[in-house]
Amino acid sequence: CATAAVAVTQRLKVRAQKCTARKILVEFQEACETPLPRLRQVVDAMAVEMHAGLVSEGGSKLKMLPTFIDRLPNGSEKGLYYAVDLGGTNFRVLRVQLGGLEGRVIKQEYEEVAIPPELMLGTSEQLFHFIAKELAGFVAREGEEFRLGDGQSREIGFTFSFPCKQTAVNSGTLLQWTKGFKVNDAIGQDVVAALQKCIERLGCKMRIAALVNDTVGTLAGGRYWNNDVMIAVILGTGTNACYVERAESISKWTGELPKSGQMVINMEWGNFWSSHLPRTYVDELLDSESLHPGEYGFEKMISGMYLGDCVRRVLVRMAQEAGIFGPHVPHTLLESFSLQTPEMSRMHHDDSSDLKVVAEVLKRLYGIQNTTVGIRKIVVAVCDTTCQRGARLAAAGIVGILKKIGRDGSTANGLMRRNDTNGIHDELSVNSTPGSGKTVVAMDGGLYEHYSKFRNYMQEAVRELLGDASKNVSIELSKDGSGIGAALLAASYAEYVPS
Ligand code: GLC
Repeated sequence: CATAAVAVTQRLKVRAQKCTARKILVEFQEACETPLPRLRQVVDAMAVEMHAGLVSEGGSKLKMLPTFIDRLPNGSEKGLYYAVDLGGTNFRVLRVQLGGLEGRVIKQEYEEVAIPPELMLGTSEQLFHFIAKELAGFVAREGEEFRLGDGQSREIGFTFSFPCKQTAVNSGTLLQWTKGFKVNDAIGQDVVAALQKCIERLGCKMRIAALVNDTVGTLAGGRYWNNDVMIAVILGTGTNACYVERAESISKWTGELPKSGQMVINMEWGNFWSSHLPRTYVDELLDSESLHPGEYGFEKMISGMYLGDCVRRVLVRMAQEAGIFGPHVPHTLLESFSLQTPEMSRMHHDDSSDLKVVAEVLKRLYGIQNTTVGIRKIVVAVCDTTCQRGARLAAAGIVGILKKIGRDGSTANGLMRRNDTNGIHDELSVNSTPGSGKTVVAMDGGLYEHYSKFRNYMQEAVRELLGDASKNVSIELSKDGSGIGAALLAASYAEYVPS
């Protein structure tokens, strides 16, 4: 009889835990909701902020940075070019032999290394020396099948995926760090000059021809193959977008208008903010404990660096208030970033009936044993809510850009503008079919590439928002486009002119 009573008490306890956890879940789900009308408000806010950011410096939280890129690759680039890529979790160096319109990419090679974590928080000198050293080693391993053109010296596209205020295509000062980087003394420095100095000190003869945000590299890489590419988006460790803007719409631009009449704008949309965004207690906690509090709120709701941590924070609350993982909260669960997005994605995609993968991840990361299937389902639901919100917000961002450039189908303007830009500014839109009416968004980043539920939610939301106009828009994965794109931009802006 006593054992029966204990069993009943136990069952009641489990039920009460589940009930409290459900309450926390429902509250979180409600706070994260992104129904269509709300998403439309985000779309409108994005378009409005883009406009404000173009009008004046500091006119919006969207920095809308002119990149000085006023012509994009068109296939005629020739010669051997290099790229270095710093910005995510890995550092990459790449070389590519370009053969012009017929040959295109004749050969390419790259090497990738994880960035030593201490360099992300160290000094500028250490960071740029590391990049230069890796680059010099890579150049020394250049095989004979790569050839410089007559009189060509080695030129580099420098992909540096942080906000920079550019003063030329190959110079720019770092405005602030984002993601997992915080190298304080680099802020305000010209990052091209800093890297160039370290390269020269190693006795390496190379010139940085272009400073390239990863979005801009992706745009250039996408445009090389497809003339309808107008926008590029990164959904990876961080998130951002760039697009081709009419130069005369950039009111804050004080320089000469480019001949092409167009300019690529790096939006730094990670810092976008609007009161229509569904912000929760989780976002507030995550922000206040982050490396860059008060900054890049949109990025913190969407990108790969943060999604897993969002989920973890909800689980912490469930563990503390509902005891879903037993009487004690596992201390590793309290560690920031202990749940990374790839593990979240594995749990989210678990389609076994008893959610084995969820059980395995909870056990391996946190030593949590014996979870019931009911609790595991709640964990999956937290992943789903977090993923869906991020994906739908990214979709709203994309549609906001389409709206700004008149290609969201809301006016006839899109097509007219397109014919117009094709006619007058043929350098950026070289070879594009006049009036084809297609807009391609080049996409890159591990979050989009590997998290298929995120990708599906995002595509679905773009379709919902665009309705009929969605048939004119396609989102195309441009894998590793940013590395090759930077090399292509080095070619476009090189001192060397192929004969
Ligand atoms: C961060 C950076 C931005 C970059 C993005 C994706 O938002 O500030 O420059 O493009 O991450 O890597």
